Amino acid sequence: MRLSDTVALITGAGSGIGRATAELFAREGARVVVADLRLERAEETVGRIEAAGGKALALAADVSFKDQVERMTAQALTTCGRVDVLVNCAAVASGDDILHIEEEEWDLNLRVVLKSVYLCCRAFLPGMIERRGGAIVNVSSVNGLSGLSEEAYSAAKAGVINLTRNLAIKYGHHQVRANAICPGTVRTPIWGPVVQKDPQIFEKLSKWYPLGRVGEPEDIARAALFLASPEASWITGEVLNVDGGLMAGSYGMSRALMSKEDQP
Ligand SMILES: NC(=O)c1ccc[n+]([C@@H]2O[C@H](COP(=O)([O-])OP(=O)(O)OC[C@H]3O[C@@H](n4cnc5c(N)ncnc54)[C@H](O)[C@@H]3O)[C@@H](O)[C@H]2O)c1
Repeated sequence: MRLSDTVALITGAGSGIGRATAELFAREGARVVVADLRLERAEETVGRIEAAGGKALALAADVSFKDQVERMTAQALTTCGRVDVLVNCAAVASGDDILHIEEEEWDLNLRVVLKSVYLCCRAFLPGMIERRGGAIVNVSSVNGLSGLSEEAYSAAKAGVINLTRNLAIKYGHHQVRANAICPGTVRTPIWGPVVQKDPQIFEKLSKWYPLGRVGEPEDIARAALFLASPEASWITGEVLNVDGGLMAGSYGMSRALMSKEDQP
């Protein structure tokens, strides 16, 4: 078991990548605090973990608000005593073109995607520093690395990457590690509104991925497990793309350049 004797708090763990990460961490021996805006979703994740023999606690919190993060922190520490691993996974992704996105929508994306990471790191860092050990895994996105539309979400995800690197250099000497994951397209409920408009969206997007498919939540959960575990004890400030090769280059352009005979 790679996370035995570990308490992990995962935000946004009531769905998608956060849920898969919570379930995997619990299977690896962690006691998991499942935090989500929607308590019923968090409780569903906890139910799945407990049914598989794991230990978990459901907490409701909007992690983009300081008072709610403070309450969540107090509840987690009272029940579990400490938090060794923090996975910042909660997010929204809404709005688009900068000429059309409303100010409230812009603010919402920045608040939930970026400010929540600041609030949660600030809440759990002191304990990690005191115990001289801890791991933070921030779920960013390929949108934080490249121009792929969804401007507000993407700007916030780029901020998450820079915040992660600053955490790594500042708190490394306290033995606190901070790393980010940049997933490509992953089949989760966050895509609900897009899938409703275009049920074939994942098949269409697959052609941009050198590995020929979009991701599943477990693809990201496995990377989070590695970064959270002692196996990554000398890795900090790293930004790990888990994206089926999307960021390696332009697959579409390379195919256009290749002659038909050269195409694999
Ligand atoms: N699915 C993808 O294609 C993809 C790609 C790149 C990055 N990501 C990132 O992965 C992470 C997980 O996304 P997902 O695809 O699993 O989405 P999801 O919608 O399935 O899960 C997100 C969860 O976050 C919760 N949440 C939203 N706002 C919150 C708030 N203010 N406070 C607490 N919880 C809140 C939701 O209730 C939900 O349970 C996000 O950071 C997302 O940006 C996803």
